[in-house]
Amino acid sequence: MKYPPIMRQVPHIVHGGDYNPDQWLREKDVIWKEDMRLAKLAGLNSLSVGIFSWAALEPEEGVYDFAWLDEILDRMADNGLTAVLATPSGARPAWLSQKYPEVLRVNERREKMLHGGRHNHCLSSQVYRRKVQEINTLLAERYKDHPALGAWHISNEFGGECHCPACQENFRLWLREKYDTLDNLNHAWWTAFWSHTYTDWSQIESPSPIGEQSVHAQKLDWKRFTTDQFRKWYRIEVEPLKRITPDVPCTTNLMGTYPGINYFDLAKDLDFVCWDSYPQWESTENDIATAQFFSFEHDLTRGLKGGRPFFLMESCPSATNWRPYARLHRPGVHALQSMQAVGHGADSVQYFQFRKSRGSSEKFHGAVVDHCGHEHTRVFAEIADLGKLLAQMDDIVGTTAPARVALVYDWENRWALEDAQGLCNVNKKYVETVMDHYSALWRRGVSVDIVDQASDFAGHDVLIAPFSYMLRGDFALRVDEFVQAGGTFVTTYGTGYVDDSDLCFLGGFPGPLKKTLGLWAEEIDVLMPGMENHAQLDGTRYALTDYAELVHPEGAKVLAAYEEDFYAGMPALTVNERGRGKAYYVAGRFEAAFLDALYGKILADAGVPAHALPAGVTVATRTDGETNYAFALNFAPEAREVELAGTDFFTGEAVERFTLPAHGFRIVKTPV
Ligand code: GLA
Ligand code: ZN
Repeated sequence: MKYPPIMRQVPHIVHGGDYNPDQWLREKDVIWKEDMRLAKLAGLNSLSVGIFSWAALEPEEGVYDFAWLDEILDRMADNGLTAVLATPSGARPAWLSQKYPEVLRVNERREKMLHGGRHNHCLSSQVYRRKVQEINTLLAERYKDHPALGAWHISNEFGGECHCPACQENFRLWLREKYDTLDNLNHAWWTAFWSHTYTDWSQIESPSPIGEQSVHAQKLDWKRFTTDQFRKWYRIEVEPLKRITPDVPCTTNLMGTYPGINYFDLAKDLDFVCWDSYPQWESTENDIATAQFFSFEHDLTRGLKGGRPFFLMESCPSATNWRPYARLHRPGVHALQSMQAVGHGADSVQYFQFRKSRGSSEKFHGAVVDHCGHEHTRVFAEIADLGKLLAQMDDIVGTTAPARVALVYDWENRWALEDAQGLCNVNKKYVETVMDHYSALWRRGVSVDIVDQASDFAGHDVLIAPFSYMLRGDFALRVDEFVQAGGTFVTTYGTGYVDDSDLCFLGGFPGPLKKTLGLWAEEIDVLMPGMENHAQLDGTRYALTDYAELVHPEGAKVLAAYEEDFYAGMPALTVNERGRGKAYYVAGRFEAAFLDALYGKILADAGVPAHALPAGVTVATRTDGETNYAFALNFAPEAREVELAGTDFFTGEAVERFTLPAHGFRIVKTPV
């Protein structure tokens, strides 16, 4: 099965990027014309416009200038370029901040921000809300029938927080709705601690380094509230767009694992998801870990909408100027990172930016068109070559990447865990733990659906929920049903400590998963940097670092035991057979080879197909139900031999075993 193209006018892989024609108004007659020529030459079929254009669209309050946008959209339509048209709220004109200072944020130290930067607006401001709805309405009215209009891009990279009095008031209202009574709130927040009991709603403030920092549930609720603020804001922005252009899909660009917003919640409001991806490639062995993390973020983005294709809204064709080392992408890296995104479910390859800006902070950010202004550059040539390949990939548009393995990455769990004082306070290693498990699957080219605790995972065969410190809602219950029904569940140390309110489970950890896992976790040890313990699995000895939990089997079978320290002999890996399924507990943070061995067993047991791949190579597979499109991707700095039988997507030649050069890739068609 296939999904329809995200932008209905573009039944191709979308190839485009952020374009700021309003930075070139003085030179527009020359530059804009060149831009159209160059965009076509690069094989682009789309450009994203208007992202930070408020000052150009409304130079004075109520005085609008749409002429330039009319002209550029007309030019785009004439040249076969579909517009991702943005609402301009990501940054404000100076007149707006000056006339209505309430639109500016207050930071967590309660300092009022000055005009400047971007994303610096209060989401509770009635004025900002009115102004944004006004301009969004004008944009939608004006361009509703424009042939170039393909999708709406709401604002830009939602993020940050506002702690102004209006936001505090909204936070209190949100809390009243959630808890009804202060008594409920005080209990859920455990405020008897340090005499933090609230006796009036007006006493409650958002967390601050100069105020409340110790009531974890309060901080958790503030983060939940912030996510809801962004969801509400998104709905405010799209209200006029949905009314006037009901058939044009809307989105906002996300940022992978950005911790400030629960994207699983925000994504519910979006028509499709997209994200901005900026890996730091080195063309050394380090790229393998980088590739694993960015594959994970692609899968995560796809998971936000239950597996539907997404857009790679921004990526950089060469040096990303804000990285600590703005290193050039070696030849081939650009195509590889683009195919990686498509392999994991992206139906677009888009860039920041089309034309390098001439001044200000992004003037050295990689772009399709450099300051030299012509097409005779290495980067342009690589983009144009890629454009030729993408143009042949229509069959892949709308295909999915369904997986039999689901991996839980949960924002709320991350918030709770990282805020806890205990375990390793230097770095809890939640994301690292999730990556330990993801990478073991990546090394075998196994497709993975990323879900959160609230998602439906029932259709999968294997469910992995590493470091699930917080068990929220009915997750534990559904995990137990999943196991009883024949599923395989894997979790690790640090699981089942607190509930939705960050209150510790009484009666022993892992709380509501005790029966499922068949064990009791009594204590958890933290290993200092450089320290190791060991355990043997099937006769091979493996090292573990960071965490070693001390668990007692209550029905579970011990598969590996610690070899050192006062807890030598206690279980390091257990499995509990329950109903028709199995639940594994990985009690220590083991090295990669251990997880490779463990998942070798688990996948074989569950009948999940896997590839045998050399180091640095993965396979990402999309399918339409009849044909699989397997993207073999080599992130190693040297050539690798890959075994993958089928036909080459581009040439149609039969392949079985082939060499991928460093940064090489190949798409192989295989029958389902
Ligand atoms: C983000 C923003 C863009 C641009 C790029 C630079 O993704 O959305 O406007 O600043 O970063 O990498
Ligand atoms: Zn505010």
